[in-house]
Amino acid sequence: MNQIHARAGSCLALFLIFSGAVVGAGYKSFTRSVVVFNTVCAKCHEAQCSGRLSFDEDFEVSSSHVVRHYDGAAGNKQLQKELFTILNYMKANCAYYPVQQHIPPQRIWYGEKLDSQATPEEKYYFVPVGSLDQGAYRLELSLAENTKATLQIVSGTFDMMVEDCYESREQRIVVPFQVEEPGEYYVRIYPRKPVRIVRLAIARQKKDAIPAR
Ligand code: HEC
Repeated sequence: MNQIHARAGSCLALFLIFSGAVVGAGYKSFTRSVVVFNTVCAKCHEAQCSGRLSFDEDFEVSSSHVVRHYDGAAGNKQLQKELFTILNYMKANCAYYPVQQHIPPQRIWYGEKLDSQATPEEKYYFVPVGSLDQGAYRLELSLAENTKATLQIVSGTFDMMVEDCYESREQRIVVPFQVEEPGEYYVRIYPRKPVRIVRLAIARQKKDAIPAR
């Protein structure tokens, strides 16, 4: 993981310096807000790299705006504050808010760990899948029931590598993708109805195994 960071550009360097400072103070509570921000709020606020920070007055004013877009934040000042912090972090660093995640060695997520990467209501998922080298991969999902879902695979510098709507078959969705730029990657899933994902995996695959689409 670290050799990838060393190769990446200045944006990521800032990210690393900042992560120690911000994350130290109990990053765990940020898991939910990071997921909410990067699914619900990201629809409009993704990659807002203005550098122009918002201040506490803006926080008070924006509270109703935040609740309008995510009613799970109603009456939850802590969550609202975290969402605000995450937006400011993105503006200042032009990067996803850093969460210390243990990436499973086989890159297979399931159970509680995967559940915690979803909004409790709509089951929107935001899963940091760690740093990927150049090459051909496959994203594999197993769903609790069949549905259509919009899938996105985004780089740490907000390049959208995959964005499409997929319909599961036999409760599975498999999406081949190609990494050209080594770096951190994120998977985002918007199911049409709140369907739980029971397994998510990133697997390597041979280049010529990618079916034509
Ligand atoms: C449908 C689009 C949309 C969604 C979804 C959305 N926002 Fe906004 N938000 C805006 C717009 C437009 C503005 C006003 C323009 C600006 O200042 O960027 C704004 C302004 C804000 C502001 C105050 C101004 C600033 O930039 O600091 C905050 C804070 C904020 N949004 C947080 C959130 C959070 C947190 C969520 C998720 C719960 C969210 N927004 C979801 C569109 C959206």
